[in-house]
Amino acid sequence: MKFAFSEISLPKRNSLAVPVYADKNFSSTAKEVDNMIGGMLSRAVDASRFNGKKGDILEVLAPAGTEVSRIILFGMGEKNELTQTDFEDLGGTLVRKLNGSGAKIVTVILDDLGDCPLKDSDAAARVAFGAKLCSYSFNRYKTEDDPASEPSLGKMTVACKTSSGARKAFQDLEAIAEGVFMTRDLVSEPANTLYPESFAERCRELSSLGVEIEILNEDKMQRLGMGALLGVGQGSVRESQLVVMRWNGASGKKSSRKPIAFVGKGVCFDTGGISLKPGPGMEEMKWDMGGAGTVTGLMKALAGRKAKANVVGVIGLVENMPDGNAQRPGDIVTAMNGKTIEILNTDAEGRLVLADALWYTQDRFEPEIMIDLATLTGAIIISLGHENAGLFSNNDDLAGQIFDAGEAVGEGVWRLPMSKAYAKQIKSPIADLQNIGTGGRGAGSIVAAEFLKEFVGDTPWAHIDIAGMAWSKKDTPTVPKGGTGYGVRLLDRFVRDNYEGK
Ligand code: BES
Ligand code: MN
Ligand code: ZN
Repeated sequence: MKFAFSEISLPKRNSLAVPVYADKNFSSTAKEVDNMIGGMLSRAVDASRFNGKKGDILEVLAPAGTEVSRIILFGMGEKNELTQTDFEDLGGTLVRKLNGSGAKIVTVILDDLGDCPLKDSDAAARVAFGAKLCSYSFNRYKTEDDPASEPSLGKMTVACKTSSGARKAFQDLEAIAEGVFMTRDLVSEPANTLYPESFAERCRELSSLGVEIEILNEDKMQRLGMGALLGVGQGSVRESQLVVMRWNGASGKKSSRKPIAFVGKGVCFDTGGISLKPGPGMEEMKWDMGGAGTVTGLMKALAGRKAKANVVGVIGLVENMPDGNAQRPGDIVTAMNGKTIEILNTDAEGRLVLADALWYTQDRFEPEIMIDLATLTGAIIISLGHENAGLFSNNDDLAGQIFDAGEAVGEGVWRLPMSKAYAKQIKSPIADLQNIGTGGRGAGSIVAAEFLKEFVGDTPWAHIDIAGMAWSKKDTPTVPKGGTGYGVRLLDRFVRDNYEGK
């Protein structure tokens, strides 16, 4: 889809979308159009449930003699309560509605915003951003054209008072959307084509944006002593990989500043290993690399908008398979930090991958802070469903910053507790640690976080369990079903708010 911005004026053809505020309050343009067509819009509103509430939408085909062919009224509710997410949702809602109608080109007018807390240029850019996020589809495996399901909408122009400001604001947002799309592409790709080495190759694409890429193979990881990560991958014919991505965007005095680090779980397929998962639904485990997908898309977004921060992304890529050479329950492995781990369940593999990836990251880069993302536990879906990711941290400030970023972009996180009592559950009788807790099904996500904490040293650290968020079975205004790209917008905002200065 193409996007453009313009000053406020009525288009000469195609579709037009105009705002209505709370209690059926038409914007000036909406009123003007209504007058031009003899009050047809007011009558359409009176004959419907449309009230001007946020999310309300009403489509009216324009009468003969009118320049435009279709007029969409969209409700925006109370102006002073509008947020950036509302404008993004509007963009997405319009795209879905117009694709349903078969419209090809639309002009969206944002006028009379009054005491809306956003600048009109930002509001306009957000509408285009939401529309772009909604327009994504993963269609590389569709070989037959199906015109009925092809999106019709090819262009959106958003009109506002200061279109030059909107155009400028949209540049960064477009880079963020490209990052989100990369994550969605990676998460949607099946495991026969996306395995550790091919994933690492996809990361190389980021070098064109100025991201430095380094790929560690099994030999290299062996020499570093990454027995926990390698143990997970040892039943797979695919070679495990660790990818390091570096974006050095800080300038001036800050250019030598220690980086911030993001670490991702990249289990390209999780069968459970010898502790085999049940068959039904196992295909979902193609997206068990969602954490790594988010870190990669985030690096693309940050580099794409030339973020003024030094950032490292590290992803541990493996495939967890049952095999004659696979790791067994009862095996004891030694992680890079020297800790021994008794593997009691080969399906608790993500924490083993992250153990070495986290230790390596803090050991090599001494980051100011470190945040990992992982589709780590089914238990987090029991706790929080698909509305919030689980947040765990050893640092209240960091946890607060991540929470605030989530509120701002509409990608929620909710913090869960950690404490010694939970950590006790992962003490093994014969090794330093065991990879599952003694508490049965209780507090599974917290126990997993306690395991990770053993590998972060003194670094301020947060863990985000995205098992409930990486994939969606339903459409929302800016996220079509499938791979969501959750976390890219959240962490992009976190970086912008806390590490780029003003
Ligand atoms: N990748 C899964 C977690 C998961 C489950 C992600 C459902 C997305 C949807 C993880 O590797 C796993 O298998 N975790 C086990 C841990 C258990 C063995 C302690 C789980 O959650 O059941
Ligand atoms: Mn597993
Ligand atoms: Zn897993």
